[in-house]
Parts: sequence; C-alpha cells; structure tokens
Amino acid sequence: MLLTLGNLVTEHGNNHRALLGRHLAGKYELVELAGVGGMAEVFRAVTHGAAGFRRTVAIKRILDHLSANEDFVSMFVEEARVTAALSHPNIAAIHDFGQDRDGAYFLVLEWVDCITLLDWRQAYDRHGELSPWPLVAAIGIEVLKALGAAHENTDADGFRIPVFHRDVTPQNVLIGSHGVVKLTDFGLARAMDRARITQPEIVKGKVSYLAPELLKPGSEPSPQSDIFGLGIVLWEVLAGRKLFEAPSPVEVLLKLREARVPPLMDLRPDIPRALHDAIHKALAKDPADRHRSARSMVRALANILRMTPESTSAEVLARTVRLARERMHEGPSAEVAITGEEAVPLTRKKA
Ligand SMILES: Nc1ncnc2c1ncn2[C@@H]1O[C@H](COP(=O)(O)OP(=O)(O)OP(=O)(O)O)[C@@H](O)[C@H]1O
Ligand SMILES: [Mg+2]
Repeated sequence: MLLTLGNLVTEHGNNHRALLGRHLAGKYELVELAGVGGMAEVFRAVTHGAAGFRRTVAIKRILDHLSANEDFVSMFVEEARVTAALSHPNIAAIHDFGQDRDGAYFLVLEWVDCITLLDWRQAYDRHGELSPWPLVAAIGIEVLKALGAAHENTDADGFRIPVFHRDVTPQNVLIGSHGVVKLTDFGLARAMDRARITQPEIVKGKVSYLAPELLKPGSEPSPQSDIFGLGIVLWEVLAGRKLFEAPSPVEVLLKLREARVPPLMDLRPDIPRALHDAIHKALAKDPADRHRSARSMVRALANILRMTPESTSAEVLARTVRLARERMHEGPSAEVAITGEEAVPLTRKKA
C-alpha cells in the first residue's frame, strides 16, 4: 500500500475528468470515478458486447504520472497476475488486464456496488455509536474465508502456491449493497515490496497494518501476518479508532514493532470475552501465538456468533450499508441508528 501526500492525490486524481466517456481498449466505457488510491483510480465502467449486451465492471487504472515508472508498472502487472489466479466469492474477481492508448495499464475487476469497511466504521463513529459486534465478527469471518482460500491456493496441477495479501486494511474490505463482503487488492503489497520506489512524494506503506515480524529484513509473509492485519482491522472497527497511530510513519513502525495492543474490553465492555480473546490472539506479537490458520480463526469467530441471537445475515448487513450510505450523504444529522436489527432511534451512544 502507498500513502500519498494529499495534494498529490488531488492534483493527479483530477485527470479522471478527461477520461470519462472514453472507451479503453475499444470496449470499456468509463462512466464515473469510484475512488482514488495511492497508485490508481477506480472507475465504474460499462463493457459493450454484441446485440446491445452491457455489463458494469470496475476499471483500476494506474495514475498518469506513475505510468512512466517501470517499478509501478511491474507492480501493477504483478497485482493482475496474482489476483487472476484466485477465484472465491469473498475475493473481488479480476476479469481482464489491458493497456490504453496512452500506454497506461488497467485492471478490469468485478464491479462491487459497495462501501468500504472504513466508510462503514465511520458511519458509526460520526454518530458516536458503537459498531454492532456480531456484524463485525461476521465481516471478519468473510474476510478470513478470502484469506484462507488465498493461503491454500493451488495451481492447475494441484501444487500449493500460497498467496498472501499483506495489505489487509479497512479500505480493501468492500461491503456490497447486498451484504456480501469482498477483499480486494491481493498481491499489491508484495509487488510493491519488490519495486524500488524512489519517488520522494510517495511514502511506502500504509504501514499501520503490517505485522511486526515483517519489519525485519528478509522476512517472509505468512498466514499469521495476514491474520495480524485483520486483527488490527477488527480491533479498529470495534474500538472506533486507529490502533497504531503516530505523527510520522517511522513512529508508527516503532509502535508496530512493539505490538502493544490496548485491551479491547476497556473500550468495548459490551463484547463477549471470547471475541476480545480471539482478536487479541490475532494480534499476538509472536506469530506462533496467533491463530494457526485463517480457518481456525473462522471457527473461533463462528463459535462466538453461535452464542448470540442477533442475526448477521447478508440481509441485515445490507441494511446497515444502506443506512451508512444515507449517513455519508446526509451528514451527521441522520435520525436513525445503525444496528444489527432495525433502523431505530439513536440509543447506543458511546460512554
Ligand atoms: N471492484 C470494485 N468495485 C467497486 N468499487 C471499488 C472496487 N475496487 C475499489 N473500489 C473503490 O475504489 C476505491 C479506491 O480503491 P484502491 O484500491 O485504488 O485504493 P485504496 O485501497 O484506497 O488505496 P491503495 O491504492 O493504497 O490500494 C476503494 O476504496 C473503493 O471505494
Ligand atoms: Mg485498495
């Protein structure tokens, strides 16, 4: 992941206006900008087939000023290669990879009508509310299923080729309007590690989601490093704040290295002890003390959910996405609270 200086994103993100309406590779019509990340712009696009066939897709197009950078291009190609090998309902699928007439590379991805987990969390935070823990656990299970499939990836001959995400962040967890959770941006971080990025305006890492062992030179990712990233994400969604935060990336790294995690129970006394323990286990400093696999963490979270009568169905999650979207558009004055059940008057204020 990359952090870019805010003005860089603004400055270079603006070029999307010139691209709207354009057809990439003669068939992907760019309709609207869906988001801008550190290295690419994501568009909603329509692909045109024979006899009026149309289909909505997402186009992830490398930012213009980075297209000339070989390291960036190779990282983008790497993302395409790695993601294309993965096929799972909780992983945003990649359909195609191309180059437009300006030489910029783009990925064609499954379009997910979604908000990100960061948006979802902020919809509660802005109203001073607690995110409903059963839904947070259910989202965690879906992300873990995606990670499990990637960690257990095999090639056509059945040889194990594990894929590690290395960049499990709230922005890379998409929550669809139908309540389906998808993890995106597989392979990106790995590719970025290989690329020697020297441009001064680009700071490497959304470092605050890295596992501490990955800070050591020559370290390799593992199922446990992805589990640590998810542990941070779940801790933050429940706590309503960032876990490892500091004024500079270097200070964040120092905090990550220590991996000192404030007890979630102190911030969320409403959650079951077992959920607190499962998330803290994911956040153990020593990878050997973490969950053995994504699957075993799925089992731990599923056992916790069995103890609550609250529904965590896709339908319930979809309702929270609709309400979060209303809040995103209406600002802080919305009069409903988002709960696992119904839209109800605001009652669940944080202490
Ligand atoms: N397949 C998709 N369907 C719909 N929207 C998407 C899809 N993929 C990404 N988006 C939207 O586009 C935004 C930007 O995605 P992108 O991955 O480029 O940036 P990021 O994750 O915020 O940062 P980074 O560049 O560091 O990965 C996402 O936050 C999401 O809102
Ligand atoms: Mg992303």
